[in-house]
Amino acid sequence: MNALTPNRPDVPAPVGLLAELTHRCPLRCPYCSNPLELDRRSGELDTATWQRVLTEASGLGVLHVHLSGGEPTARNDIVEITKTCADLGLYSNLITSGVGGALSKLQALYDVGLDHVQLSVQGVDAQNAEKIGGLKNAQPQKFEFAAKVVELGLPLTLNSVIHRGNIHEVEGFIDLAVKMGAKRLEVAHTQYYGWAYVNRAALMPDKAQVDASIRIVEAARERLKGQLVIDLVVPDYYAKYPKACAGGWGRKLMNVTPQGKVLPCHAAETIPGLEFWHVTEHSLGEIWRDSPAFTAYRGTDWMQEPCRSCDRREKDWGGCRCQALALAGDAAATDPACSLSPLHAKVRALAVEEAAETPPDYVYRTIGSNVRSPFKEEVNS
Ligand code: SF4
Ligand code: FES
Repeated sequence: MNALTPNRPDVPAPVGLLAELTHRCPLRCPYCSNPLELDRRSGELDTATWQRVLTEASGLGVLHVHLSGGEPTARNDIVEITKTCADLGLYSNLITSGVGGALSKLQALYDVGLDHVQLSVQGVDAQNAEKIGGLKNAQPQKFEFAAKVVELGLPLTLNSVIHRGNIHEVEGFIDLAVKMGAKRLEVAHTQYYGWAYVNRAALMPDKAQVDASIRIVEAARERLKGQLVIDLVVPDYYAKYPKACAGGWGRKLMNVTPQGKVLPCHAAETIPGLEFWHVTEHSLGEIWRDSPAFTAYRGTDWMQEPCRSCDRREKDWGGCRCQALALAGDAAATDPACSLSPLHAKVRALAVEEAAETPPDYVYRTIGSNVRSPFKEEVNS
């Protein structure tokens, strides 16, 4: 367990803060983990409030701040916010698409002490990448941005979200990361929340493709030892056990939305009935320790069987609450991605079926859309 929260030895201190500074973004990726109802610019927290939030995070024991969005460089105060992280000794990671105004702000971000850059790449072939991201001419901007990151001496991680539209390019992503001078590559199979859930049939690869991609990554890890670290996130629907989503509910991470709601994970708002506290009404410490959303699924008391008596319950913390809600209709159920869940076979069958069908067109991420999540206990019926 990491450092303890003051006065509450039963509550671990958070190590990471995901600061969703804005939902504005020039890209429109169909697997975006942002909610379907995106926050508008008019409701975004101001600079001083973000600075207070970061100060409180530091006091709570947070070590890493992920400056995210949307596209965080769309904010005019991104440099000031990054400087605040540096002044507080918080390790700052800019999670960016590298397009729009990102390049023009990079030098200033470096000058105030930005620590790390995580750049998204949607594909290797430019035409494919730009179709997935829904933005023409994005690929050359990303290349130029990556070159500048490396020139400045900032550590660069490439993040590639893998799905049936680019799974044939996994080898290419690895070559691209080496060519760009990245230190790390994330080969992250799509997690089906937010927009990805809406687009699941368009994104779901088949099991043979997934297995082949894992073999490619394993071979490259050997070949590139000491040169490139490759993180692999396998797709839940084909996994044996789920991952500890967000490091376990209310154990490691806090996610602050552009309007200042504090969530235990980025998709928590999909769970009906949870009460989220707001940074303008409560301190971050109060929210972390006592807010109803954070206490709802912290620890193991809320678990049902088979999690309740499983010896992995403090390893994966029962998997993902949001996925349990989406697939089982009950956020306290065992994540159906787990092979011990009574619903697992149905989930697997659903993935196999969707992967075998002709993919529908993408539903692109859009602010102000009226897209609604299609989930309705689809495997629990
Ligand atoms: Fe994890 Fe629950 Fe599955 Fe056990 S039963 S492996 S605790 S999700
Ligand atoms: Fe919410 Fe996994 S995304 S717990």
